[in-house]
Amino acid sequence: MVKKKTCVFISGQGSNLKNLISYSRKVNFPIKISLVISNNKKANGINYAKKYRIPYVFINTKVQNYNNKILLNLKKYNISFICLAGYMKIISNNLIKNYQKKIINIHPSLLPKFKGLNTFSRMIKNKETKAGCTVHYVNKKLDSGNTIIQKSFFLGVKDDEEILKKKTQKLEHLAFPEAIIKIFRNSSF
Ligand code: GAR
Repeated sequence: MVKKKTCVFISGQGSNLKNLISYSRKVNFPIKISLVISNNKKANGINYAKKYRIPYVFINTKVQNYNNKILLNLKKYNISFICLAGYMKIISNNLIKNYQKKIINIHPSLLPKFKGLNTFSRMIKNKETKAGCTVHYVNKKLDSGNTIIQKSFFLGVKDDEEILKKKTQKLEHLAFPEAIIKIFRNSSF
């Protein structure tokens, strides 16, 4: 099996990146992580790229031509698939056009509920009974592309933001790899 050359975009902790790296090292997992892009120089996730000798690039999204820089790097490493794993920046339309149906994102809510930021505090405020995560395709509208996989759990009475985040991330670490397996099993990618 030829593994698809994949770039993972991150901004912070990188627990999903770490998890995807460990899956991608398995023989039958369909992707190889060939590049990590971070818009945050201090993202902890960069340490995982270093540890596993994966090329990584810091992209300063405050400079005007940063989108070209992203595309050039994706071309340079022959990237054919993109995973957004805690990337807290909106992807440009040009990138979406270049990678139609080839960019996926993980979001810490049961979309279409709670698009955007601060999902956990909004869930608690809203007295939700169910929480979870969604892996979806990325399109031009924020957190609105087709869902690939969703995983959910019932909120406990004591669940605060921190507990919700922990429970959600535990599910994310199952959902992201499952979604990738599903994509490559079903499609003539
Ligand atoms: C994840 O929980 C992911 O769902 C969320 O950021 C976290 C990153 O964690 N993404 C978003 O909120 C995107 N809107 P990680 O850096 O440990 O993988």
